[in-house]
Amino acid sequence: MKQRIAIIGHGTVGKALYAQLQNLPNIEVVKVAVKHPAKHRELSRNILTDDVNSILDRVDIQVILEAIDDTDAAFAYAKKTLSEGKTYITASKKMVAASISALHEMEARFGGRLLYEAAVGGAIPVLRTLREHLAGEEIIRIRGIVNGTCNYILTRMGEDDLPFAKALAEAQQRGFAESDPTSDIDGWDSYYKSIILARAAFGDKPEISKVKWHGIREVGLADVHAAAKVNEKIKLVADIKHTNQRVSIDIRPTLLGSADPLYHIDRELNGIIIEGRYAGQLLLQGSGAGGNATASAMVGDLYNAPKAPQSIVRKLLLSVN
Ligand code: HSE
Repeated sequence: MKQRIAIIGHGTVGKALYAQLQNLPNIEVVKVAVKHPAKHRELSRNILTDDVNSILDRVDIQVILEAIDDTDAAFAYAKKTLSEGKTYITASKKMVAASISALHEMEARFGGRLLYEAAVGGAIPVLRTLREHLAGEEIIRIRGIVNGTCNYILTRMGEDDLPFAKALAEAQQRGFAESDPTSDIDGWDSYYKSIILARAAFGDKPEISKVKWHGIREVGLADVHAAAKVNEKIKLVADIKHTNQRVSIDIRPTLLGSADPLYHIDRELNGIIIEGRYAGQLLLQGSGAGGNATASAMVGDLYNAPKAPQSIVRKLLLSVN
């Protein structure tokens, strides 16, 4: 029997997700929720709905995949899904960063699953790498380029002499930027992702004690060219360190020489260096933004979510007790 799932959102990521799921024989997309069904004539009337709650109430849909901009709405949907022991797969990094503890508590309490690999690094499987492959490793530091839009802008400025505004317009056109790109260029997006990375690497404790961030708004063509003259590049780098029982996050435009692995991460690519006490340095790199890259991570989450409907398992357990 096919697994019946629903998608909330049909923007850049939602569209790519829907298309990728059409190629998978075991999955049936039963519903796609959008704000304005009339705007999405490419989908059949039977699939489209503007009533998210009608989807969340269905017992035959145990997995919800969500890719929307509205953080408050995403949080409400995540809470409802998890409170019923179902699986919620999201790309909403701001929502996850803001509510990570509350959501994981609900997950533990009601037996649902929350998966958000797509929230950091696009297609790069970084969260699962931290949680599973490096589960026993002592992570000391994570350093990386985690915003595809900024990296694309800085690359285009350096390689093609494109002014900031034009490079940003291109990043928007290619579906890399947020609907409000100030989140990208002022560093907020990197900040949300850093919070999620810190949580995956270090758990709840130690707490994050120091956070600083700057975006790339003030980086001009002259700066990028001056760096190139001395064979360096400017990149927006997030530096997450664990020292003396404290976690600090520092995000800023950084000059990198060619000996730094991050120097070679260009355009919308993301690169994340995980440094473990015993594992040494691991570099994960790949497509960090865009519909297909983000949707690919969500599809991976779908396959990694437990196959048994959690709410049914929970009801069985409750009936036994
Ligand atoms: N706007 C984000 C970025 C999308 O440019 O990295 C992927 O999270």
